[in-house]
Amino acid sequence: MLFFTNAEITLSLVTFFIVLLITKKIWRRGKLPPGPWGMPILGNILQIGELPHMTFLKMKEKYGDVFRLKLGIVPVVVVSGLETIKKVLLKQGEQFASRPKLYTFSLINDGTSLAFSEQFGDAWKIHKKIAKMSLKEFSKSSRSSSYFSIFEELMSSQSEAFVETLLKNSEKGYFDPSQDITYTVASIICALCYGKHYGHDDQEFLGIIQLTVDAQKASGSAAPADFIPILRFFPLSGVRTLLRAIDKFNNFTKKHVEEHHGSYEKGHIRDITDALIYLCNRKKVEDKLFALSDAQIVSTVNDMFGAGYDTISSAVQWSFLYLIKYPEVQDKIHKEIDTLIGAGRFPRFDDRHNLHFTEAFIHEVFRHSSFSPFTIPHCTTTDAILNGYFIPKNTCILVNLYQVHHDPALWEDPDCFKPERFLDKEGKVDKHIAQNVIIFGMGIRKCLGEEVARNELFLMLTIILQRLRLEKRPSDELTATAINGMALKPKKYVLKALARY
Ligand code: HEM
Repeated sequence: MLFFTNAEITLSLVTFFIVLLITKKIWRRGKLPPGPWGMPILGNILQIGELPHMTFLKMKEKYGDVFRLKLGIVPVVVVSGLETIKKVLLKQGEQFASRPKLYTFSLINDGTSLAFSEQFGDAWKIHKKIAKMSLKEFSKSSRSSSYFSIFEELMSSQSEAFVETLLKNSEKGYFDPSQDITYTVASIICALCYGKHYGHDDQEFLGIIQLTVDAQKASGSAAPADFIPILRFFPLSGVRTLLRAIDKFNNFTKKHVEEHHGSYEKGHIRDITDALIYLCNRKKVEDKLFALSDAQIVSTVNDMFGAGYDTISSAVQWSFLYLIKYPEVQDKIHKEIDTLIGAGRFPRFDDRHNLHFTEAFIHEVFRHSSFSPFTIPHCTTTDAILNGYFIPKNTCILVNLYQVHHDPALWEDPDCFKPERFLDKEGKVDKHIAQNVIIFGMGIRKCLGEEVARNELFLMLTIILQRLRLEKRPSDELTATAINGMALKPKKYVLKALARY
């Protein structure tokens, strides 16, 4: 007999409604992205390998544009495919605009780093705006009528000195140029940030380079502590070395910022530190809330140094490799420089508008090497739905830029190095094609230094190639193989520089 008591009927109805609500919520929020099975505690760490962007390229084939794995105990969503990446960085940008609270990120500038640790919100937006304005203010600051800006003047003198170094080293035969590249790029970024022109044998300068080497090594060995928290307490984790290097670097920048406060003259911007002081003084008068504290100025200068050093160093190392591996490409750049600039004057930033093949070469170096294969990790600011998958608030997001740059759906023969792919029928750079190279990221978290980097690389390469021919050792078979680092570097190679006239 089917008789129910009132209590049983009420309980059944309540249960029914709860199940309905839960089902509706799960249905509404969508399912979690697919992904590989991971081990307890380690998650998928052992599957990632030396070059994670390559592993993720294969995983994308199996799981699609959005997949989920675990690095240690931290759930991570990997995003690939240009259209899906555009959703993350542009269309749904605010939902994906924060940085994950990773342990090593929190050590950088005590959690005040604009690039790594400060959480997304109104204060961060002001910080980024001021940093952006400071680069703009510095980039147009000039002290001589012969150059567009102090930056152009600096790039010319440093690149000329670099030409002499390359010639001198070549007297002894073929040599590995990576150290000279690092020193030149480091002295440029020191002059940009602190206005200080170091000789390459200056002890303070060499100390700074050593600190960056220590910090890179230590952050590599400390990185697992981001994902397996217990490792933070093991002495081998590199955390202490990292902290020491960060502390010393902070003191170095702090000293320069204090000196700048004393020597800053209104209207005379010598470097990025001056530009930040100028903007903050102006903001303090307009609205105190919109200025940065001294500690934030120090941390912003540190961010610019960090972001503009290793990346540009990689870009130059890859450029030299492609120039010697493809001499016919180098010939075309020589021809373009000879025809449009000649030998009678130095190249200028403005020449970028006319040297289309050289610009195409730089786009192709960025695309083919993809030396910055991911953006800096992002993090969701709210629950989000991406391609129908539910991604909870505070999920760490890795954006695979390498995959976009090697996607056969976007590029013909993606593994082939071919600058011409960026040129239209008139031989000019095709902007629609070039915009698919997204090595600087896109949207809210886009790199601040894109113009600085493009100008720097263009001027350095054209000044060098105006005077020199770079050659590989005839017996060497060069490959564009990457070794891992903060930014990917090419495998070691040697070259020789010959004067063209
Ligand atoms: C070829 C050279 C460079 C490359 C490939 C590069 C690439 C990148 C990438 C991929 C990001 C992360 C974007 C994201 O997380 O979505 C980034 C962020 C950043 N870059 Fe660059 N960068 C370069 C040079 C520079 C230079 C020269 C500076 C400054 C002088 C700079 C300053 C920054 C800053 C401050 C951020 C943090 C932006 C944020 O968190 O919102 N970068 N860069």
